[in-house]
Parts: sequence; structure tokens; C-alpha cells
Amino acid sequence: ANRNEGQRPALHFTPKIGFMNDPNGLVYSKGVWHLYYQLNDRNLVAGHPEWGHATSTDLLTWKWHEKAIKAPSDHESIFSGCCVVDCNNTSGEFDESTGSDDRIVAIYTLHTQGHQTQDIAFSSDGGYIFTPYKHNPVLDIGWADFRDPKVLWHALSNQWVMVVAKCHQFKVGFYGSPDLVHWHHLSDFEGAGVRGYQYEMPNLVEVPFDDDNQRKKWVLFLSIGPGAPLGGSFTQYYVGEFDGTNFTSDDNYLRTADLGKDWYAAQTWFNSPDGKAYGIGWASNWQYCNRVPAERYRSAMSLPRKFTVREVPLNANTKSLSLISRPIDLSIARLPSNDAAMVYTNGSAKISPSIDVIYQRHMQGSTGAFEFKLNIKSVTSPARVTVDIANPSGRSVQLNFVVDDQGMFISMDRGRIRTGSSWDHPLFDDKVCMWVPSTQTVYDVHVIIDVYVCELFAIDGAYAFTNTFFLQDGVASTLTVSQEVTDTEVFDVYELCPLAS
Ligand code: FRU
Repeated sequence: ANRNEGQRPALHFTPKIGFMNDPNGLVYSKGVWHLYYQLNDRNLVAGHPEWGHATSTDLLTWKWHEKAIKAPSDHESIFSGCCVVDCNNTSGEFDESTGSDDRIVAIYTLHTQGHQTQDIAFSSDGGYIFTPYKHNPVLDIGWADFRDPKVLWHALSNQWVMVVAKCHQFKVGFYGSPDLVHWHHLSDFEGAGVRGYQYEMPNLVEVPFDDDNQRKKWVLFLSIGPGAPLGGSFTQYYVGEFDGTNFTSDDNYLRTADLGKDWYAAQTWFNSPDGKAYGIGWASNWQYCNRVPAERYRSAMSLPRKFTVREVPLNANTKSLSLISRPIDLSIARLPSNDAAMVYTNGSAKISPSIDVIYQRHMQGSTGAFEFKLNIKSVTSPARVTVDIANPSGRSVQLNFVVDDQGMFISMDRGRIRTGSSWDHPLFDDKVCMWVPSTQTVYDVHVIIDVYVCELFAIDGAYAFTNTFFLQDGVASTLTVSQEVTDTEVFDVYELCPLAS
């Protein structure tokens, strides 16, 4: 058996049992981060989703709760959607005695074969128990594929605004409402970029500038699958303007929110504190999610991320305002015994005349979770850095970085020859790759490994790369970094551990 099936990631959210996909209903209220999610608790594969529920106060420790929204019958499912805080009781459905922060409204898709409608449910206890609205649906255009509503309060036009996927029309529908019950059509957005088979999970959010919290830009996330450039499903985004009726994209570039294979259906938290934009993605891919190794539950969420926007060079001549993704701060999960202060440079042991091992560390714990940073500087082109992440049986996953005057090429080898995984799937690619154009002399990289999830961030959040991997015979515990003709620093290496909940 594949041993790491039994070990859960230390910090990435996993469901207690059953099959999980999209994050849903992300809402922050009264110091609590709510995470609902597509959950099929009858089986380990997709089918008959309802809303699972978990909460956190630090975005790293999660508490499982009872299912929040259940399907009314076996032939209906509760598909993806969102939550808002109706603090002013615009819906008129809340008792005046309900605390304003406890008035949570879920807006989701009720799926039946051949028909999808937008329905709502009310919670008066801050998001734990929901009662479906008596007069559902609140939005029905008679279509089979019309789903995944995400709602925000648009203060300038004094209305609720819903974005919802018109999946096979390749449009994002915009609807407005004064009360979450009556919805009218505002506009449709037709995006450039990849269309694939269908649009899913649109998410409109105002995102602050990296260097100025007061300045904001509208970002529209859009999930697409199948038909992703790397195969299966992926998350695209647009940066633009929203005037209360229309969304217009600033440019027509194809923008990918995460260049790995395992970051889908991303959503942001309604009411993220301090005007910031926090979100999370599903760390899997529809191409193989039903078949990855699993025993009691299947799949994990990514770490929560903080989003900003910043000008990023696309090449030597073009810059463009881009989504910046940073994982939330992990310092509270770092094991105390660390050598964070140490910076290793140049050669402790030579493998060959040109290859130096510059860093090796055996982790003390067996959490399978650690993080590290690299600053890669090319001395002569092409330069190469290899990061080997191995378990005690010598099974490993490897990250390769090749830097030349064109840029940095990153690949991850998660193939069976290296990992020894007994699990075989023709579409679970051996190598996943990402490209960072050359616009700097030093390439900074931040990597988080957590049992079977690898999240990589480069150039201070300008590039994100999330991929799962499956090691045979136990979790990784040794980190080895070697280099050829680079001047590379390895630093901020920390073992990570689950926090008591
Ligand atoms: C995206 C998605 C959504 C749908 C849900 C069903 O991954 O296909 O469009 O609401 O999953 O579980």
C-alpha cells in the first residue's frame, strides 16, 4: 500500500471522510474563518456533493463541523456557491434579535439532472445551521449548466452583485439584487484566454496593490476544465474594472493564477479583514482527482493565500499588473529547533567536479512537512539547482531549476521511477513545468512541502506552482540541495507541525 495515504498533511485542510472538491461559502465573521466545501461523504469519488463545513481562527488549524447544507433528495445535489454576511438584514429574513454578524446567507447551485438553479439558505447562528429559503430558487434561467454563484456587496452601486458561470456559453453572468432574493441581469462578460470545455467558479474580488493597501483593482478569477494548458482543470484570472454593471478586463493576456496542475476552483473570503483579499484553492485536478491514492478521504485544499496586485515584467519590454499570491505566514507552525539563521553557500560535498551538494538536512520530526527558501543566482549560463525531497526509503520527488539568460525553468519530477508510487495513472504527469522569464539577476523561491502537497512561490509571489505527489513507503524527511555553476543560498528552512486545535 502507499503508506502516506494514512498520514494527513500537517497544515493543509482535509475532510474527515469522503471526497472533497471546491472550496465554498468562504466567509469571515466574528474572528472566525468559515470554510465550506463540496463533499460527497457517501463515497471516495465525486458524486452527490453537499456542503461540508470547517472553521479556523488562524487559517492553519481547522475544526470539522456537521454538514452545513444537505441535499433535499438523492437526485439533487448542493453544488458550489458562496456565503455573505447580511448584517443589515437586506433580505428581511432575519429576526431583529439575531446579531448582525450572525446573519449568514449561503447562495449556491441546486443541481438536478439537466437543470441548475441558484438557491439561498439562511443561518442565524453565524454559519452552522442553515434553513433553505421557502421560495427557492432565486435565480432560474432554465439552463442545465448555469452555476457557482459568488456574491459581493458593491457599495458604490448599493447592491449585491452575483457572478455566475454560463458554463458552455463561455460567459460570466453578472446579476444585481437589493435583497439577495430578487435578482436582475446586469451584464455578461466574455473573457479572452483559454475556454476549454466549460467555465466554472467565477469569483470577483477587489484586491489591494502590493505596496499600497488603499489602492485596489478588481480581479475576476475563473476556473476552466477540462482543457487546461497542462491538462485537466486550472484557474485563470482577469485584472480590470467593475462599475456596478460591467466588468472590463485591462488586457487580453492569458493569465494563470497558479501554473501547477493542482490548484482549482479558487474562491476568496467574503469580508476578509482589513480590506485584504484572502483565498484558497482545491489542491487537485479533475483529470485524476477520483483516482489519487486515498483511504478514508480524498484530496486537500491549498494553504490559504493572501492576494495583491503588482506590475510584473512579462518579458524585457512588457510589464503588466498581475495577481501576487503568497501563502499565509506559517511561523506559528514552525518547530522550535531550526537553523533559520544559517545560510549555506557553496559546496560541502562534491558529487562530481561540477556538482556541489550545498545543503542537506534530515528532519527531526516525521510530519512530512517543511518549508525552505532559495535565492538562485546564475554564475555561468546555464546553471542548475536540484532539490531532492526524499523519504527514509530513498523514494523522492525532485525540483529542478535551470537558469539561463532567457529565464528560469522549473520542473518537478513526481514520476513513479523516482517516487516508487504503486499508483499509476497515465494523466498524472511525471513532470510538471513552469517558466519564469528573465528579468532579474537573483530568482527567489519559497517552497512548502506538506506530505503530498508541494506549493512553490517564485519572484515574491508573482508565480505560484502547486502540485501533488505520492511517495511510496512514508513521508519525506530529507532535503538535499545541489547545484551546478550557480551561487545559490538555501535559507529559512523550517520543519512544520500540526497545531493543536
Ligand atoms: C468545479 C465544479 C463546479 C460545481 C462543483 C460540483 O470543480 O464542477 O462547477 O459546482 O464542482 O461538485
